[in-house]
Amino acid sequence: MPPTASIHGQWTTRLAFILAATGSAVGLGNIWRFPYIAGENGGGAFVLVYLGCILLIGLPVMIAEIMLGRRGRQSPINTMTSLSREEGVSTGWASIGWIGVVTGFLILSFYSVVAGWALSYIFKSGAGGFVGLDASGSEAMFDGMLASPEALLAWHTIFMVMVGIVVARGVQSGLEKAVTILMPLLFVMLLVMVGYAVVQGNFAEGLAFMLAPDFSELSANAVLLAMGQAFFTLSLGMGAIMIYGSYLQSDASIPRTAGVVVGADTLVAIVAGLAIFPIVLGAGLSPGEGPGLIFVTLPLAFGEMPGGLIFGTVFFILLSFAAWTSAISIAEPAVAWLVETVGMTRVAATTVLAIAAWTLGIAALLSLNVWSDYTLFDMGVLDFLDYLTANILLPLGGFLIAVFAGWRMTRGSVSAELAMRSPALFGLWYFLVRFVAPVAILLVFLRAVELI
Ligand code: PHE
Repeated sequence: MPPTASIHGQWTTRLAFILAATGSAVGLGNIWRFPYIAGENGGGAFVLVYLGCILLIGLPVMIAEIMLGRRGRQSPINTMTSLSREEGVSTGWASIGWIGVVTGFLILSFYSVVAGWALSYIFKSGAGGFVGLDASGSEAMFDGMLASPEALLAWHTIFMVMVGIVVARGVQSGLEKAVTILMPLLFVMLLVMVGYAVVQGNFAEGLAFMLAPDFSELSANAVLLAMGQAFFTLSLGMGAIMIYGSYLQSDASIPRTAGVVVGADTLVAIVAGLAIFPIVLGAGLSPGEGPGLIFVTLPLAFGEMPGGLIFGTVFFILLSFAAWTSAISIAEPAVAWLVETVGMTRVAATTVLAIAAWTLGIAALLSLNVWSDYTLFDMGVLDFLDYLTANILLPLGGFLIAVFAGWRMTRGSVSAELAMRSPALFGLWYFLVRFVAPVAILLVFLRAVELI
């Protein structure tokens, strides 16, 4: 008999799981990463491929990942070990958990650095730093921040401590509540930004940039980036969603819950794009600006709009919160494993992971200034970590999850855990997870390394 609860605890309601999983999904990936990567890759066609990846790969893999977690009820490493035993297949499938722990550690290190930028912008805004800013002034402000290792280190440290405190206390008590209030607020703030973009920015051009596809612009590498972004933004492929699934009640409907989370995450990304591109194009900035995109464009808008000082400050507070609720889920699989298997206390486990990720984060932040001449595959440490995790490790994890759920578990165990009422919908999901998702991931990989 599979266990019915995790030793780490359980969400109080299905809604709590939805909020926590949405809190994990909605983060820097939606508001910082999505607009800048879409901008660098020509907009419309990229967005379309991204949406295709969300629907055909992301949603089915999310259902599979939650399903594995709830059936195993342990950290991803131990969940995969016990599910493999239960199904009578090689325990080598625990590598899904191992890859996930390593990936999570790598993501956490640079994620914390970028979240530190958001924290820093709360205070820049609050001090009136956006008032009267023009495009070049805004670029100078962002570049000035990146040029200061001390400032970056301070914010990176503060963010990592914030993450450590919540993870050490267990996810349910603090986060469940915070997420309920903050996520809707963040969405409202984004709508305010869209409202501003409609009135002040170049909304028609921004809309066209984001939605009118021009496939001639789309390289094989851009397709890989779109797929990587789909995994990153949905928190898939590294066990974050798996462990959240392990805290989910046995009677909650997994497909419906996954649908809500994917829908909410996608909506936030699209709304973020609609808020940002009109401002970019209206101010004569380039959508291909890179990682600084939102940090350069949004301050321009806040600097001009009535009440911008308050809106700007609140916006960056909410962005920091979104990053916070995501970072917690990135840490959780490794922490749970250290507790389960190494026998550490939760506090000790969190401390070990946070210090390790913090240390690697220092290399990432130095790559923006004093180490800017050192590159790996033409990328600085931060860009390299981002590229490696989002575009390679997460899709790899997702591929293995799909293959395990689709081919290594029996149809009986899978359908028992999902308990879907509609055989047609189950059949559709099963087809996507067995054929479409793994084949698509493989093809995109092969195409990106120019093997096909
Ligand atoms: N989904 C988060 C975001 O969009 C990032 C994340 C990636 C979280 C992987 C967990 C696991 O910001």
